[in-house]
Amino acid sequence: MSLNEQAATAFTEQFAQAPEWIVRAPGRVNIIGEHTDYNDGFVLPMAIDRAVYIACRPTETQTVKVHSLDFDETRAFDLAETTALKPAADGWLEYLKGTAWALQDAGYSLKGWEGVLVGDIPVGAGLSSSAAVEMATARAFAAVADLPWEPGTMARLGQRAENQWVGVNCGIMDQMISATGRQGHALLLDCRSLEGDLVPLPQGVAVVILDTGTRRGLVDSAYNARRAQCEAAARFFGVQALRDVDEETFAARAPELDETARPRANHVISENARTVQAAEAMRAGDAASLGRLMNESHRSLRDDFSVSSPALDAMVECAHAQTGCYGARMTGAGFGGCAVALVAAENAESFAAATETAYRQATGNDPSVYICKATDGAALLE
Ligand code: GLA
Repeated sequence: MSLNEQAATAFTEQFAQAPEWIVRAPGRVNIIGEHTDYNDGFVLPMAIDRAVYIACRPTETQTVKVHSLDFDETRAFDLAETTALKPAADGWLEYLKGTAWALQDAGYSLKGWEGVLVGDIPVGAGLSSSAAVEMATARAFAAVADLPWEPGTMARLGQRAENQWVGVNCGIMDQMISATGRQGHALLLDCRSLEGDLVPLPQGVAVVILDTGTRRGLVDSAYNARRAQCEAAARFFGVQALRDVDEETFAARAPELDETARPRANHVISENARTVQAAEAMRAGDAASLGRLMNESHRSLRDDFSVSSPALDAMVECAHAQTGCYGARMTGAGFGGCAVALVAAENAESFAAATETAYRQATGNDPSVYICKATDGAALLE
């Protein structure tokens, strides 16, 4: 049974009637442009065929009552609990409460509903399961209260929920691609103007997600530390964000930067340039150039931004060694989680099997490998 069918069936079991809507919001993989979003730079993610689904039905109450199939528990909150900002407690419901808060704080008038939540995005793997929950929740609220669905606005509110309610200081990439992804396309997003250009994936290539099976607990503090270092480097250059520093200016003044700020800024500035070039390569159907840029991105994240890990480096090396691999790099915040590879479509199956075996032998870890498709962003299914 597909996940949307599971959500619908479970809804009928839980609430003794059929759901009125099923919403879907996808996870994402970022092809290139890492740790650039909070520097007002460029990213090139795509929405994937792993997603969060909510089957739901409006009620005549002010309560949101949701059964999570993955956690096998039902939890509820009253909309009045989320009119003012509160520190989040633990658990999956906080992503829904935070989204309700952000929507209400932006002036939307919400209605209560009951629902079933299910998903197949691995948690903590760097594939944005939390952004997908936020966007599915926003889509459900919009359906129930008949709110206009403006994907960019909803993405910003999802980011606000994550930053202020959940307390994770992420950029805009994850919510934006979960809200606005398009089948068969990646999105070149300018994270300053929030203008996006859909770029078709080249013919004959497959995008393969390589989950190292490792998760790191300290991602948030390391992430915030990188943000602070980037902001300090922007102040040094006297600009609003590192987006405003070009490679020539950086080269001229780099010797004045300290030993930490210099490689951090070097990563962000070079990664912005690579991301714009990668979108051009993608438009031209030039998989070889795109793959080379992904390889350079990995080296820069590993050596200059210091957010890779031995497991991610091992996975990327195993991927490079296989037939048909154009390029591979870590994806998402780093420190563990997933890498992404660009592979000739005809080699995708054998690439996936060989990389998995090689990585398992090299590290003793238990990886998961998926050949994935670029899908549409958050939407009502029925
Ligand atoms: C996480 C954040 C994003 C982005 C990436 C790194 O996924 O949520 O906003 O900063 O890390 O590129």
